[in-house]
Amino acid sequence: MNETLKTIAGRYSCRSFSGKTLSDADLQTIADAGLAAPSGMNRRHWQIIVVKNKTLLSELETEGLRVMSEYPDKTTYDRIMSRGGKLFYDAPVMIFIAVKEAFPKGAELIDLGIAAQNIALAATSLGIDNCICGLVAFAFAGGKAEEFKRKLKFQNGYECGLCVLLGYADEPGTPRAIDKNKLTFID
Ligand SMILES: Cc1cc2nc3c(=O)[nH]c(=O)nc-3n(C[C@H](O)[C@H](O)[C@H](O)COP(=O)(O)O)c2cc1C
Repeated sequence: MNETLKTIAGRYSCRSFSGKTLSDADLQTIADAGLAAPSGMNRRHWQIIVVKNKTLLSELETEGLRVMSEYPDKTTYDRIMSRGGKLFYDAPVMIFIAVKEAFPKGAELIDLGIAAQNIALAATSLGIDNCICGLVAFAFAGGKAEEFKRKLKFQNGYECGLCVLLGYADEPGTPRAIDKNKLTFID
């Protein structure tokens, strides 16, 4: 296996981060990997925001959990509670990816996912644990969207997309086994 394939095979979603922080040099490298992602027609309909501010991370988490707890379908909330009641798992850093507003969304969402994966793989390649987190969207669904857009310095016309949580695992996890049933070859 070459280094790229080892990185892909070694990535897993970390859900328990230690307090250890990342270097600014690593963060810059990881953010740049996000910016290097391909996008439909090279539109780059994303904005990448590196968040180290603990207060802001805590505000997003508190609001996200509050909104989730009031959501009629309790499945997601119960799942998060069963995992320790944390949306961001104590990650010291979040790379937030805002996405250009569009209705209906098409390629923007695919571009967003590819950028998130670039970030996750770049982090993994540097030995930094990570977790793509879509549930951050709950923080924007309860009336505080404008406040968070301002605090996260969203550009005009951008809204919540995804985030990638970054840090160092409390205890390193193991990558999930791949499912060969999902693979078809046609000769
Ligand atoms: C678009 C997307 C959103 C996700 N959102 C969350 C999330 O909010 N919280 C979380 O713990 N994991 C989240 N994950 C991680 C998935 O649960 C994880 O990728 C999946 O269970 C497979 O596990 P693995 O990443 O360890 O291979 C997300 C993954 C993707 C691709």
